[in-house]
Amino acid sequence: MKRILLSLAAILACLICLAQPKKATIQYGPWVQNVSETGFTVIFKTPEPTLAYVEVAPEDGSSMYNSDLPRFYETIAGRRVHGTIHRIRVSGLQPGTPYRYRIVGKVALDDSYAYGIVWGPELKITGDISGIKTLDLNAKECRFSVVNDIHCKTGRYTSLTKDLKPEDMDFFVMNGDMASYVNSLDTMIKYTFGPAKELLQSVPSIYVRGNHESRGREFHLVPGIFDSPTGEFYFLFRQGPCAFLVLDGGEDKTDSSGEYFGTADFDSYRRTELEWLKKAVEDPLFKSAPWRIALIHIPTISHFTPWYAQQWLCDNMLPVLNEAGVDLMLSGHHHKYIYTAPGAEGNRNAFPILVNSNTDRLDCKVTEGRIDIRVVSEDGKELHSLSFKK
Ligand SMILES: [Fe+2]
Repeated sequence: MKRILLSLAAILACLICLAQPKKATIQYGPWVQNVSETGFTVIFKTPEPTLAYVEVAPEDGSSMYNSDLPRFYETIAGRRVHGTIHRIRVSGLQPGTPYRYRIVGKVALDDSYAYGIVWGPELKITGDISGIKTLDLNAKECRFSVVNDIHCKTGRYTSLTKDLKPEDMDFFVMNGDMASYVNSLDTMIKYTFGPAKELLQSVPSIYVRGNHESRGREFHLVPGIFDSPTGEFYFLFRQGPCAFLVLDGGEDKTDSSGEYFGTADFDSYRRTELEWLKKAVEDPLFKSAPWRIALIHIPTISHFTPWYAQQWLCDNMLPVLNEAGVDLMLSGHHHKYIYTAPGAEGNRNAFPILVNSNTDRLDCKVTEGRIDIRVVSEDGKELHSLSFKK
């Protein structure tokens, strides 16, 4: 009899549990991409299909319990989207202004009937996240840090970012190969945003694609966890005195290389990107900038293991960058510190090229008259310091 009663109690507990509607929660994120003078994109993943919105308020001490706060939803052609990967664009903001945001959502418990979606309770799924600041063309300086070639080493990533403070930087650059391949999008998210979760929920991140991150079964889902002004992995943006060209070298070997099993089509991709680049360097945002920095995972150097794509970039992209007056290139890929002075390649490169190693971080500050870069190790030691002046 006792056993029957226990079984009934267990069944009752299960039924009560099943009767509880699923509450909206976050699985990964949020992180901030595609920051501009007037907006930014909040990206996160939920475990269940969820309809979510972002509320934003200036950092002016006002309460976020204000029913007049604008709500931003992800929409496609006029329709709000409920899914698991969320990319919510926030717009209408002021330049150089700090904001707070929070995410509210409800789970789609049953969306099988088009005229009767059953929603769970609408809940706040983050607290108030402070310190996200819009870009400002008129800012006096631009500060950012760079890591690259982490290749899934989460301990190293944590060490390199643990001392970074949101108030000391405008954005954080991932200069490629944060992961080694993308068989699972969740794994890519974990390696890209997981080790610096707290930092990257308020500091905008700039993702520069590495050659390894176009490999693996779920590579095609990778664009969904990033955002950029062009919707591509190559784009232009500006903060204060510096314009940034973010470029994508694609895979490093020939498209026919056995490693890609017939899936590579990067020759065509790079040619399309090159045509975009020729137009981008004519943009007044770029041309009017006192400083111009190119961010690309594979450097345009010929003197160090210039495999196929690297040499192609030297032959095709480098002349455009020279002509456009680029002042500095920041790269990775070679897992070692390599500094190439202007003209060191038989006058092929008109600007310095700094390749960061896979174990260090670059802390960069750009003012109207100079660029200062500190190369810092995992334990916080300054290994190199470089300055460039106009
Ligand atoms: Fe690489």
